[in-house]
Amino acid sequence: MTALLEATNLSKRFGGLKAVDDLSLAVQEGELHCLIGPNGAGKSTFFRLILGRYPPTAGTVRFCGEDITHLQAAARVRRGMSVKMQVPGVFAELPVRQNLVIALQHKFSGPELAREVDRLLALVDLSAEATKQAGQLAHGQKQWLEIAMAIGVRPRLLLLDEPTAGMSPEETYKTGEMILELNRKAMTVLVVEHDMAFVRQIARQVSVLHLGRLFAQGSIEEITDNEAVQEIYLGKGHHHGH
Ligand SMILES: Nc1ncnc2c1ncn2[C@@H]1O[C@H](COP(=O)(O)OP(=O)(O)OP(=O)(O)O)[C@@H](O)[C@H]1O
Ligand SMILES: [Mg+2]
Repeated sequence: MTALLEATNLSKRFGGLKAVDDLSLAVQEGELHCLIGPNGAGKSTFFRLILGRYPPTAGTVRFCGEDITHLQAAARVRRGMSVKMQVPGVFAELPVRQNLVIALQHKFSGPELAREVDRLLALVDLSAEATKQAGQLAHGQKQWLEIAMAIGVRPRLLLLDEPTAGMSPEETYKTGEMILELNRKAMTVLVVEHDMAFVRQIARQVSVLHLGRLFAQGSIEEITDNEAVQEIYLGKGHHHGH
């Protein structure tokens, strides 16, 4: 079986620092895959390599069997990748609804566009906030708006970098349910997360990054029972957040 996404011996150096170091990682079609690891492990850098925002120092990226290592970021989006990055990116001065229109207008138009926007608003529980300025939303709601913007184009692969950062436990749980629902509807999802309760709630497959390398991989039970994984977290002290 061909993996939907396959990184092979991928590396990214920043001067002398190996942010991503000879990393091979595959995501199968239909998977809900969590990527965890201490601060600075290389998770966000790995996302940027997948998305074509940085050229790799070495290695290849394949998507749907095609070598996309040298493809522009926009071409990767056209092939079905979508992302919600760690730093929020909504248009704060525009209404919630308009944010979604902008995200979807390349894919839909007319009544179909309006219908899709309504569907997404309902999906992330923002129907009542449609006319509100995005900047006025609560923090968790901003994250949900961004998730809606990312899934609106119906990607084959959804990349989420810390989607629950700064959320309350209730908001985090609700986000987990949204992601599970998307995955049930056949979307392949790769999520970077620190919140282990959240990872336990959603993950089927877990990969652990440490110092840019793949440190461990397995089911959530295998990963939480893995003493070496526990140690790399403890050794780093508490997650400092963002
Ligand atoms: N543009 C850059 N230039 C130089 N160094 C960078 C750059 N981006 C990331 N790094 C470094 O690469 C390493 C990996 O960073 P990255 O942001 O990928 O980690 P992360 O796993 O996402 O961490 P976090 O959990 O804190 O978000 C870090 O040491 C970071 O300082
Ligand atoms: Mg990061």
